[in-house]
Amino acid sequence: GAQAASQGPVIGFKPVPISANDTVVVPEGYSVQVMIPQGTPLSGQPAGKTPAEMTAAEQGMAIGAHHDGMHFFPIEGRHPEQGSSTDGLLVLNHEYIEPRTMHARAKGMSIGSGRMPVTDDRREAEEVQKEINAHGVSIVRVARQADGKWAVVADPRSRRITAATPTEIAGPVRGHALVRTKYSPDGTRVRGTLNNCAHGYTPWNTYLTCEENWAGYFRNLDQQDQKPNLPREQARYGVPTGQGRYNWDQAANGADEFIRFNVSSTGADATQDYRNEVNAFGWIVEIDPFNPGAMPAKRTALGRFAHEGIVFAPAREGQPVVAYSGDDSRFEYIYKFVSARPFNRATANGALLDEGTLYAAKFNADGSGEWLPLVHGQGPLTAANGFADQGEVLVNTRLAADAVGATKMDRPEWGAVDPRDGRVYFTLTNNTRRTEAQVDPANPRARNQFGQIIRWREANDDHAATRFAWDLFLIAGPEDSSRIAGNASVNADNMLACPDGLWFDADSRLWIQTDIGESEQLKGDLAPFGNNQMLCANPITGEMRRFLTGPNGQEITGVVTTPDRRTMFVNVQHPGATTSPADWAAGKPNTSFPNGSGVPLSATLVITKNDGGIIGT
Ligand code: FEO
Ligand code: CA
Ligand code: CA
Ligand code: CA
Repeated sequence: GAQAASQGPVIGFKPVPISANDTVVVPEGYSVQVMIPQGTPLSGQPAGKTPAEMTAAEQGMAIGAHHDGMHFFPIEGRHPEQGSSTDGLLVLNHEYIEPRTMHARAKGMSIGSGRMPVTDDRREAEEVQKEINAHGVSIVRVARQADGKWAVVADPRSRRITAATPTEIAGPVRGHALVRTKYSPDGTRVRGTLNNCAHGYTPWNTYLTCEENWAGYFRNLDQQDQKPNLPREQARYGVPTGQGRYNWDQAANGADEFIRFNVSSTGADATQDYRNEVNAFGWIVEIDPFNPGAMPAKRTALGRFAHEGIVFAPAREGQPVVAYSGDDSRFEYIYKFVSARPFNRATANGALLDEGTLYAAKFNADGSGEWLPLVHGQGPLTAANGFADQGEVLVNTRLAADAVGATKMDRPEWGAVDPRDGRVYFTLTNNTRRTEAQVDPANPRARNQFGQIIRWREANDDHAATRFAWDLFLIAGPEDSSRIAGNASVNADNMLACPDGLWFDADSRLWIQTDIGESEQLKGDLAPFGNNQMLCANPITGEMRRFLTGPNGQEITGVVTTPDRRTMFVNVQHPGATTSPADWAAGKPNTSFPNGSGVPLSATLVITKNDGGIIGT
């Protein structure tokens, strides 16, 4: 049961210690099952093959790589907080890939090998297609079995969205000159979604997948022998001028669906090449998990940036729909979207996200804040300043936010809205490049290695308001330089670094997940924090306890419970990123190796309380 609102939710488990061990640890009285590792067929049939043994086509019908944001949709398709707690569609993102787990000839590659070798400027097309098919989103039906374990169950709604799936461009950028390509001369479609990091779910029960570090998948060779001078819609987002992240554009068969990742221009006509392909990435993509015939739709009114995730304020009948999204890059911004049309539960759908106002946040030193509109024709966002229309404002969202003077943050990651009091929380994971001269009250530390959690309350508790009041809920890090709001303190049972995933359960427990980068884990100033972990916090008192620690090399990202809050799903992404094939042969990591392959794979943890109780109590 819940305590009085003034004290916040019950947190009843005994905290687990910091861990450097290659395993998952949960509190006494809890159990963990490992489910749906990469390569699990959506059919419910046994895999029979490891991902390295699969064909590209088989990977395209199986769980993808690098599990991230995730939501559980009860099978009846009603409101996410009602309905079955034993049977549903689990929808999860696949952020990127690790070649060592995907290709037989790559298994011996060294730690940190991010891409397969290129031979004579070519990559093997089947390997490229397999990597494309391991990206995107999985929609998979899962159900609790008689023995209490969860398993994949066959369902016609189970499907994969990949980096090649035909997708609509919706909202103000649909048809704009900046998204016209050889594939879609009228600028209405694009193939696929990339680098799907965190997620969101709408008040009308659809899933949103968010495109984060998409820029690196492309490359522009126009200026290769000169000082790079890319178009602003590429330059402001960091499109490479040398190699792309995986060199997909160099697939040996030269097919159009691979060449599109080279966004060089070939002449006057943009519909004869793929210079605009990259402008169709950086968006939030809506997927209807219950309608397998529905094409995903990029909702361009929500802006183009390195979207981490998106979180909605509770929808109120007759009021606008409001959602928050962070741009996870150093010195980037937090944004809010307010729909033009009001929410009506009976008729609400994704079109609500196609008309509205996008704002960027300004955090003032006195604890007040302002939402600055990114609207063509308002303030500096005029044709005279280079923004010819709202499409140009949205394709260049970062430049628009620069122009209005939003506050440059320490890498905004996930957001969460407290269901009890409506306060909005955002993780700011770290920013080691902030100098003393760039410190401000919302981003208070230079060379910020440990991150913080900011929160705010909208004026009059109206999420559509243009003013708010903010404070810092947590300054993360070692005991001597960290602080929690309320009367709690940082200690061995709750210290953390690099907060990333963030989610409120229905009782207002705040779940915090960490992502210490794999090159920094168990090293230097980050060593005392051990492997990445998940904690549970009381937003009122600041009480916080460590709930879970993960294996070596991974990050913990993605969390949701069933409606009854008695089963929790948590993702383990890139386990083994810091371990070698010799470590794997020795049994590391010991949490997520399906099929006896011995190769560490991202997977989903199913966590239950042995007494059947609510998770966290
Ligand atoms: Fe993919 Fe910002 O985490
Ligand atoms: Ca993240
Ligand atoms: Ca992160
Ligand atoms: Ca990640």
